[in-house]
Amino acid sequence: MMIPQETRTVRVGLAGLGNVGAGVYKNVGRNSALIQKRTGADLQIKRVVVRNLTKARDVEVPADALSTDWRELVNDAEIDIIVELIGGVDEAFELVSTALQAKKIVVTGNKALLAERGQELFALAEKCGVPIYFEAAVAGGIPIIQTLQEGLVGNRIQSIHGIINGTCNYILTRMTQAGLGYKEALQEAQDKGYAEADPTLDVSGWDAAHKAIILASLSYGFWINPADVYVEGVDRVELLDIRYAERMGYAVKLLGVIRADGSGRVEVRVQPSLVPRSHLLASVNGSFNAVVVKGDVVGETLFYGRGAGQDPTSSSVISDLCDAAASLIYGFRHSGFVPHGLYGKPKPVDETVSHYYLRLLVDDVPGVLAQVATLLGERKIGISSVMQPEGEDTPPGSIPLLMMLHDAPLKAVKDAISAIQGLSCVREKAVWMRVEPLD
Ligand code: HSE
Repeated sequence: MMIPQETRTVRVGLAGLGNVGAGVYKNVGRNSALIQKRTGADLQIKRVVVRNLTKARDVEVPADALSTDWRELVNDAEIDIIVELIGGVDEAFELVSTALQAKKIVVTGNKALLAERGQELFALAEKCGVPIYFEAAVAGGIPIIQTLQEGLVGNRIQSIHGIINGTCNYILTRMTQAGLGYKEALQEAQDKGYAEADPTLDVSGWDAAHKAIILASLSYGFWINPADVYVEGVDRVELLDIRYAERMGYAVKLLGVIRADGSGRVEVRVQPSLVPRSHLLASVNGSFNAVVVKGDVVGETLFYGRGAGQDPTSSSVISDLCDAAASLIYGFRHSGFVPHGLYGKPKPVDETVSHYYLRLLVDDVPGVLAQVATLLGERKIGISSVMQPEGEDTPPGSIPLLMMLHDAPLKAVKDAISAIQGLSCVREKAVWMRVEPLD
C-alpha cells in the first residue's frame, strides 16, 4: 500500500446488520481516524440494509440511514463499496452480481456464496472490471486470504491443514476439557455468537468445507466443485473416542485438509481427525482457528487467531474495505484471485491416503486380534499400535479393541472395515477417524 497523499471520502453501503455487520459498523466508527491516517480513506457507512427496521440491535444506526431494500445501495451513485453480510446464497448472489454490474466494489464474508457460485461471480467481476474482496469468508480474523494472494504468491502450495470452524473447535474443546455432552457444548457456542444462523452448517462440516473450497481454489487456481469435497462433521464424535485419542497422545480436531500430490491432483476434505498432541494445531482451543500452510519456497507457516465472532470477523471486513478504498484512491485493482495458471484437478477421495484410528467392540476371547489383523493385512494395511483398555463399561464378555493403522488409501480402509464388521466376534459398528501426522 502507498503512503497516503490525500484523503478521500469513500462511501460504503452495508447489507446485513447481524453479528458481523454490527461489528463492522461499530469498529469502522471506533477506528475511523486511524484508518484515515493509514490509508487516506475516510470510510463513511452511508446506508445500512436490514430485514427488520424495528429490531433491537447492539449498535445505533440513525433511522434515516436504514432501509430494507439492498437495491437502494446499488442505485446510490455516491456509494463506492457494497459490503454483503446478509448470508445465504440466492439473494446474496443477486445482490453481488447486481452490485458488480453497477461497478460497485464488493466486500463479502459469505463463504457459502463463494464456494457454491464463486466461479460465476469472479468471472463477472473480471468482465465488469470490479474486484471482490473476501477476507472474512475464511477463518474469521486471520488474514489468510491476503496471505495466500500476496505473502505466499511466490510459492506452489503443497498442503493446507486448517482448524477453520470456530463452533466445531469450541464444541470439541469443551467436550475434551470439561467433559460436556455435544448438545450442551453446541448451545454454549451458539450463546457466544460463534455459530451460523443455522448451526447445522457448522456441525455438519459444511461451513468448514466452504472455507476449504475457497482456500483450495485460491491455492491451485481452479475451482473446486463442492461435489468433489469429502465432508464429515463433529455431530458423530463421541466423548469416548476423544478420551481414547488423548490416551494415545492425540487431540481430536475438525480439520480441513487440502493437499496436492506429485501429479497436481488436489484432495479437499473436512473431517474429525486425530492430531498429535505435540503439534501446535492440537493446542488450538475454543473458538480459535489455525491454518498451517506449506509452500515449496517458504516451508511450513502457521496462522492463528479467532475464527468466529463479531470483532475478529469485522477486522477482516475492515481490512477489505481499506484495500477496496485504496484501489479507488490509488487505482490498484486485482480480481480477487492469485493470477497464476491452472495446475490441478480434484483427487477422488477413495484414493486419498492417511493413517487411521479404529475402535471396535469385540468378544473378549483369544484369536480375535488375529482375525482382525488378517483382514487388514489382506488389504495391505499395517497396524502401528493396538490397545485393549481393561475395566471399561462394556457388556459382559466384550472389550474395546483400539488400533492405529498405517497409511492406506481410504477405499482399502473402508473395504477392510466392512469385512471386519462381518466377523461374528465384532459386536458393534466400528468407529474410525483419520489420523493426520502433520510431519
Ligand atoms: N460459524 C462460523 C464458525 C463463523 O464457527 O467458524 C465463522 O465463519
